[in-house]
Amino acid sequence: MKVYLDNAATTPLDPEVFEAMKPYMLEDFGNPSSTHAHGRKVRAAIESARKKIAELLNCTPGEIIFTSGGTEADNAIINGSVKTFGIKHAISSPIEHHAVEHTLNVLARQNSIELHYVNHNTNGHVDLEHLQSLLKQFPGSLVSLMHANNEIGNLLDLKQVGEMCAEVKSYLHSDAVQTMGHYVHDLRMMQVSSLAAGAHKFHGPKGVGFMYIRKDKKINPLVHGGAQERNMRGGTENTYGIIGLAKALEVAYRDMAIHEAQIKKLKQRMIDRLREQIPGVGFHGDSANVEGSLYTVLNVSLPESEENDMLLFNLDLQGISVSGGSACSSGANTGSHVLNALYPNSKRGAIRFSFSKYNTPEEIDFVVEKLASFFPVKV
Ligand SMILES: Cc1ncc(COP(=O)(O)O)c(C=O)c1O
Repeated sequence: MKVYLDNAATTPLDPEVFEAMKPYMLEDFGNPSSTHAHGRKVRAAIESARKKIAELLNCTPGEIIFTSGGTEADNAIINGSVKTFGIKHAISSPIEHHAVEHTLNVLARQNSIELHYVNHNTNGHVDLEHLQSLLKQFPGSLVSLMHANNEIGNLLDLKQVGEMCAEVKSYLHSDAVQTMGHYVHDLRMMQVSSLAAGAHKFHGPKGVGFMYIRKDKKINPLVHGGAQERNMRGGTENTYGIIGLAKALEVAYRDMAIHEAQIKKLKQRMIDRLREQIPGVGFHGDSANVEGSLYTVLNVSLPESEENDMLLFNLDLQGISVSGGSACSSGANTGSHVLNALYPNSKRGAIRFSFSKYNTPEEIDFVVEKLASFFPVKV
């Protein structure tokens, strides 16, 4: 049996999405910037993809800008907002994805910004009182806080943080790469300046994503070139990627309630089975809170053992693909900056299981059984 439980790293393409992309790979190959019929046809398809995404997120099509993925969206927004608005202070967290953390670090090293980190409570949630005091101290700053953490699954209340930021006229960017397609984002109900998203986390193609940038928060581009994307991102569009992205989001919204219920059941099953079969098992962050955390992620904390360094390798040998942290450390338990920040001296093992609509209860039972075999009950 081969089991894929690393869906926070990437998800398999939905065949329905592939079918929607196919014509744009074969017949409809025109350059959308060309004014002839071949180009116009593809231009129309891109604009209807943009409109579809805007409808789903309750924003306007002009607020959606296509990129090569979440990383580029984070880079473009962070660099662009700092330069466009002359921002001098940024407030973020040490447990952000590297796409945000490293981008902010570069700006801080160049003395473009001063970077301030918000504290977390013991479950890894942002300490909102501390955030409030930083916002008061540094009004007008760039605040970059992710909607859901990709390793521990903690969720941020974007509506509340948006209100806090709006009060002091700060620019709130949120990396929504892990929540897009898994939750409804109603952008008219939130005071968020920008979001980053990538299609491959919700059964869309790799190498394509988008940024939402509120119309009153327009920024200068990161990628200069042609006038594509309303002068916000130069370069010939990834046409079939964009078509696939819009289709994947449409399918995700259409089936969201069913898949959310199905995946939550799988996650609860895994928590229950792990508690039964591995004495001393725990869960990192808030990920065992099935209703209150990102339902696709479960980060398991395993008892101290000599086996821990080899866990990912040994599971891989059994046909089980999982991760120890974010995708960059998949396959090698090199330690995660998120877990190191939250549990600095822990010697416990860590495995991130992440689920999708394609997983089954049988797979969960198989994985727990294999994992439990590395932690025999002492008699
Ligand atoms: C929270 C988060 N942000 C950004 C990214 C990067 O997105 P992409 O792979 O689309 O560049 C990821 C992917 O692992 C992620 O989980």
